[in-house]
Amino acid sequence: MKSVISLVCSLAIFQTVGAGNSIPRYFHPAPNLSSRQIQRELGRQLSKTTSILGQNDNRFENSIVRWDVVAVPRIQVVIEPGQESDIPKIVKYCNRNNVDFLTYNRGHGFPISLGSFNGIQINMVNLNHISVKPGGKSAWFGGGAYDGQVSRYLWDQGYVTTTGSCDCVGMMGPGLGGGHGRHEGLYGMISDNILQVNLVLADGSSIRVNKARYNDLLWGLKGAGHNFGIVTSFEMNIYPRGPDTWHFHTYLWPGSQLTTVFNALNTFHNNGSTPINMTINFGQFYINSSVSATEPSIGWTFAYRGPAEEAENLLAPFNAIQAVGDIQGDVPYPDISVAQGTGEEGFLCQSHNTIRTITTAGLQVYNVTAQQQIFDSFKQHITDNPQLAVAGLVVMEGYSTAAVEAIPSDSSAYPFRSDHHLVYFSTILAPNAKPSLIKQSWKWANEVRDLWNNGQPRRLPNAYVNYANGLEPLEQKYGHEPWRLQRLRHLKAKYDPHNRFRFYNPIV
Ligand SMILES: Cc1cc2nc3c(=O)[nH]c(=O)nc-3n(C[C@H](O)[C@H](O)[C@H](O)COP(=O)(O)OP(=O)(O)OC[C@H]3O[C@@H](n4cnc5c(N)ncnc54)[C@H](O)[C@@H]3O)c2cc1C
Ligand SMILES: *[C@@H]1O[C@H](CO)[C@@H](O)[C@H](O)[C@H]1NC(C)=O
Ligand SMILES: *[C@@H]1O[C@H](CO)[C@@H](O)[C@H](O)[C@H]1NC(C)=O
Ligand SMILES: *[C@@H]1O[C@H](CO)[C@@H](O)[C@H](O)[C@H]1NC(C)=O
Ligand SMILES: *[C@@H]1O[C@H](CO)[C@@H](O)[C@H](O)[C@H]1NC(C)=O
Ligand SMILES: *[C@@H]1O[C@H](CO)[C@@H](O)[C@H](O)[C@H]1NC(C)=O
Repeated sequence: MKSVISLVCSLAIFQTVGAGNSIPRYFHPAPNLSSRQIQRELGRQLSKTTSILGQNDNRFENSIVRWDVVAVPRIQVVIEPGQESDIPKIVKYCNRNNVDFLTYNRGHGFPISLGSFNGIQINMVNLNHISVKPGGKSAWFGGGAYDGQVSRYLWDQGYVTTTGSCDCVGMMGPGLGGGHGRHEGLYGMISDNILQVNLVLADGSSIRVNKARYNDLLWGLKGAGHNFGIVTSFEMNIYPRGPDTWHFHTYLWPGSQLTTVFNALNTFHNNGSTPINMTINFGQFYINSSVSATEPSIGWTFAYRGPAEEAENLLAPFNAIQAVGDIQGDVPYPDISVAQGTGEEGFLCQSHNTIRTITTAGLQVYNVTAQQQIFDSFKQHITDNPQLAVAGLVVMEGYSTAAVEAIPSDSSAYPFRSDHHLVYFSTILAPNAKPSLIKQSWKWANEVRDLWNNGQPRRLPNAYVNYANGLEPLEQKYGHEPWRLQRLRHLKAKYDPHNRFRFYNPIV
């Protein structure tokens, strides 16, 4: 395990240093921190509900748990601020002591740049308040609010907003990079709905960022936001909650239906013209040994915002494809994630502390030839390495995208509005998996990404920043138009000149 991980990490460091900027002042080993010393020097300035946890504290492990352990940040001490106003004090303390700090919310971030961190983790868990503003057009959220919490709370109050699709992830982790989810066809991404944020900058100052003040930074926060500050709270649009129930329909098809399935999906999506209330569909190639142990099955699930009858009308082409099994139902919106396996207890959210070899791509349509090649390579890899059969996972997502595409591309740092499908490959391995197996997994992961990208020879490769493993060139994460990176570097020099925020797919 060690050899592969250190290979990956040294690549990351090479990229950072190779970026051509001066070495930041803070780029030296962190001192040996003790929670007792921090308690003594800083504790009294912080609110009473703040926790300062050292490595011996029995709450420590739980406070740093990560979904993926390919590149684990080195956390010496955790601070869980009790109030927003604690955060500037913590940042200033870190600056005085030349200690790095890392914002942590729900622990699903996985870019390898996280592995170069050594310092104090600021865990946002206490800052998860939600308050709907009078009039019901927007609400304020704490910087530690997360998707499932937000969806359930707002629904009970009669509202919805844009969140990620998985209940377990934070609002700001996804939101600062774009934020894809079930309401994006109607209202855009999380970032598209942010009105203003309270932000702590690298120097520990607190500012309010909105259209009237710091509009340049607001632009950068919506797509490259992990690079600029700590969001202590944010105001977002909210909307009336819509139909009382959502319809889901989940199919399991044998691999032999691949061509039919992807042709039907292409017709259905019609290159970004997906029916707006057919909010999300996504599927997987994976081994279900009760169907076949030697080739993947195709699992696919659709969610419709409205009644079964309307949904099933649209789903007729899929109902016509002979399935191994299928299941459907109607549930209130907060339960649709549970029905589709993306609830907090669901398969995609769980499995913490696993090694994930992730690669990603953004597609406009499915190239059926490429999909077949990916399927065939799955069969080949598990023949060569039977242990990888249970580990391999190819995930393909198709949102309705009308509102995302309606927003001008240059109006935010999010660069990939005309990608209609987010796709990724992952293996899921135990943290003590053999180095040879991890190496094979990376090989497979890179191969799948290349097959996707070769299948769209007229488009440049894209890697949604929140799905990126961190080894991709900057243009693939922040946009190929040269002005985008120029603008981001300019913002970086202005708002974070010492590059304190450099642990999540850093621009510099
Ligand atoms: C199971 C799973 C499901 C996912 N589902 C979706 C999805 O539906 N839609 C989507 O768009 N993406 C999705 N993603 C990708 C997701 O956007 C990123 O993994 C994201 O980083 C996770 O946020 P987190 O709070 O869980 O993780 P963390 O690791 O806690 O946070 C990730 C990074 O976000 C930054 N950050 C978090 N909170 C703040 C804050 N308040 N202020 C400043 N910076 C902050 C920090 O840089 C931190 O390193 C998913 C990922 C996984 C693993
Ligand atoms: C850090 O300090 C502790 C306690 O003083 C000590 O046991 C440990 O060896 C030190 N670690 C390093 C890397 O200096
Ligand atoms: C989407 O659903 C709403 C009901 O909430 C309906 O009013 C609207 O017409 C639907 N849109 C389309 C394009 O079908
Ligand atoms: C595997 O397939 C069977 C049908 O043969 C189905 O009942 C079961 O739910 C599937 N398991 C998974 C994990 O998809
Ligand atoms: C698909 O849609 C995009 C816009 O989202 C457009 O640029 C592209 O030309 C379309 N492709 C085809 C084949 O129509
Ligand atoms: C589909 O993928 C194949 C294999 O990479 C490629 O040769 C072909 O040009 C692609 N088709 C289109 C329309 O891009």
